[in-house]
Amino acid sequence: MNNYTNSNKMVSFKELGLVNTREMFAKAVKGGYAIPAFNFNNMEQLQAIIQASAETKSPVILQVSKGARNYANQTLLRYMAEGAVEYAKELGWEKPQICLHLDHGDSFELCKSCVDMGFSSVMIDASSLPFEENIALTKRVVDYAHQYDVTVEAELGVLAGVEDEVSAEESHYTKPEEVIDFATRSGCDSLAISIGTSHGAYKFKPEQCTRDPKTGRLVPPPLAFDVLHEIEKKLPGFPIVLHGSSSVPQEYVDIINANGGKLPDAVGIPEEQLREAAKSAVCKINIDSDSRLAMTAAVRKVFADKPGEFDPRKYLGPARDEMKKLYEHKIVNVLGSDGKAA
Ligand code: G3H
Ligand code: 13P
Ligand code: ZN
Repeated sequence: MNNYTNSNKMVSFKELGLVNTREMFAKAVKGGYAIPAFNFNNMEQLQAIIQASAETKSPVILQVSKGARNYANQTLLRYMAEGAVEYAKELGWEKPQICLHLDHGDSFELCKSCVDMGFSSVMIDASSLPFEENIALTKRVVDYAHQYDVTVEAELGVLAGVEDEVSAEESHYTKPEEVIDFATRSGCDSLAISIGTSHGAYKFKPEQCTRDPKTGRLVPPPLAFDVLHEIEKKLPGFPIVLHGSSSVPQEYVDIINANGGKLPDAVGIPEEQLREAAKSAVCKINIDSDSRLAMTAAVRKVFADKPGEFDPRKYLGPARDEMKKLYEHKIVNVLGSDGKAA
């Protein structure tokens, strides 16, 4: 049995009550909003995502990354997502629109294993390969996944920073002149592009930013909206994805730093820019780091305020509440996806 062989029989995402991204994206592109793609690694994150989505009736994409697979186990996460559909119904969301998505899949075998175990969407991230190899690997995944109606996200261009194990000194914006050829020949359902976002809580080096004289905070350079609009013109109505779209809320950074943490000059993508992107062909926005910050801020605060506390529910509970608040805020005030899965 290799790493990706499932002991279970093949299961379709449809049997699990999950949905793929096809209809979600078509509606989002037309409606000028974006679907939240939140990463989850543990029960509290998943509960917070589902509570926020159910209360706001927002379609949602649950993402499973490489780190999550290593930490929590891919099979266990898939069963948690199946449970999440039932949990959403229990919360009164009659027809939950929940997609289970593989984030940054790095091989055909991994994507296949996710399709086979009930994921409704996979990303094949071959963006570090030469153009033709990226097309060939993406097409291989598409040909397999589409047999089971599983949708496929691909990536063209390289994000700055650490992209899972792919490091790039600086970002290489997606070249608009390549997108038609890539999308047509690979057959992908959505395309992640590089326009200046990047993963993690340190998206920009201080020397790339200016400093607000009043607050002393770093002000990042704007996203390359010109590149996004060029891409939109080349592929009208085609679903575009933004990775690395955490905003690194400074109130969380402050709480963390005031309670024993050390996150100097952490900076993200301003929310107004994400709102603007969501109104365009960008219909999936990936957010992971902000949830990590919300959780860390809440946990650090409990530890500082109540040093005698040792029941994990007493610090993971507040962390869950803080993440739920964050997810709701993203859905309602940034992505505009609330009420779109009523
Ligand atoms: O794309 C990166 C995500 O934030 C997940 O990162 O592999 O550390 O979970 P991870
Ligand atoms: P952030 O690190 O900005 O949250 O990005 C997450 C992401 O792109 C997951 O694929
Ligand atoms: Zn990503």
